[in-house]
Amino acid sequence: MDYQTVLDDIYRDIAPWRGSGTVARYIPELARVPVDKFGMAVVTVDGRCFTVGDAGERFSIQSISKLFACVMAFRLLGDALWQRVGREPSGTAFNSLVQLETEQGKPRNPFINAGALVVTDVLAQRFVRADTAVLAFIRRLIDQADLNYDSRVAQSEMAHANRNRAIAHFMASFGNMQMPPEQVVEAYCRQCAITMSCVELAQAALFLANGGVAPLTGERILDVSANKRLSALMLTCGTYDAAGDFVFRVGLPAKSGVGGGIVALLPGELALCVWSPGLDANGNSLAGVQALELFTTYTGRSLF
Ligand code: DON
Repeated sequence: MDYQTVLDDIYRDIAPWRGSGTVARYIPELARVPVDKFGMAVVTVDGRCFTVGDAGERFSIQSISKLFACVMAFRLLGDALWQRVGREPSGTAFNSLVQLETEQGKPRNPFINAGALVVTDVLAQRFVRADTAVLAFIRRLIDQADLNYDSRVAQSEMAHANRNRAIAHFMASFGNMQMPPEQVVEAYCRQCAITMSCVELAQAALFLANGGVAPLTGERILDVSANKRLSALMLTCGTYDAAGDFVFRVGLPAKSGVGGGIVALLPGELALCVWSPGLDANGNSLAGVQALELFTTYTGRSLF
C-alpha cells in the first residue's frame, strides 16, 4: 500500500476542515496553539514511516497519555485493575462527575478523567513520581530520551483543575483513591502535558498494533490477551461520548486528546496519528476525525 500517496491525498482533501473547531480554552496555555496546524503520520510494524504536514512538530498529548498510563497500571495490577475502574463506555463527557455518584465512585473506564485519575493513583502508589514514570515508559517505547512535559501547560492546567480536583476528592470519599487527591491531580496534569509529535505518538502506540511487542526494541510490553483488552478499550472508550460515531465513521481503535491529537491502530499492520488542534463538541479533533475517516475510506482498510 502506498501510504504516502494516501496521506498526500488526505492533506489536499482535508482543506475545508482545517482550522475549523475550537482549540481547548479551559487550559489557557493550549488556547495559544494555532488552530490551522495539521499533521499526520503512519508507521508500519515492518518499519516504514510516512508523514505529511506538521507531523514532526510536538504538541500537548493530553488524554492520549491516559493510554500509556493505563498500559502501565495494567502491567502492574493485571485484571485486579478492573476492581477500581470499569471497562464500559460512559456516554458522558470526559470530565463528567454524574455517574460517579450512583456508581460508588468507580469510573466507567480508564480513559475518562475519573478513570485516568484512578490509574494515576495506582501508579502513584508504586512510583515516587507517577508522571516521571509515565514519561520514562514512553521514552523507552520510542528510544527518545529528550521527550518531556511542558511545564507551562502543566501549570496552566493545575491552575484551572477544579473539575479534576472535584473528581479526585469525590472518588476519595468513596474510598477509591489511595494517595492524597492533590498529589494525584498534580501528577495527572504533568502526564497530560507531555509533548510529542505525530511520528513519536504513532511509534509509541505501534506495539498495540503488533500484538504487544514494540517493533523498535523487540520488547514485549503486553501479552497477547492484555494487548487485545487495551485495544478493545480504545475502540469502545477512546473518544468518549463520541466513541460510537467515531467507530461508525472510522472503524479503528483510537485515543484522542484535547491537544488535538488522535492515535489510531490498524491491528497487525500500523499505527497512525493525526494532529489538528480545532476540537468538536466532544473534545475530539474535528479535522483529525475527518482525516482518519478519509484514511480508512481511501485505503479500504479498517477493522471491518
Ligand atoms: O484533564 C483534562 O481535562 C485534560 N488534561 C485532558 C482531557 C482530554 O484530553 C480529553 N480529550 N479529548
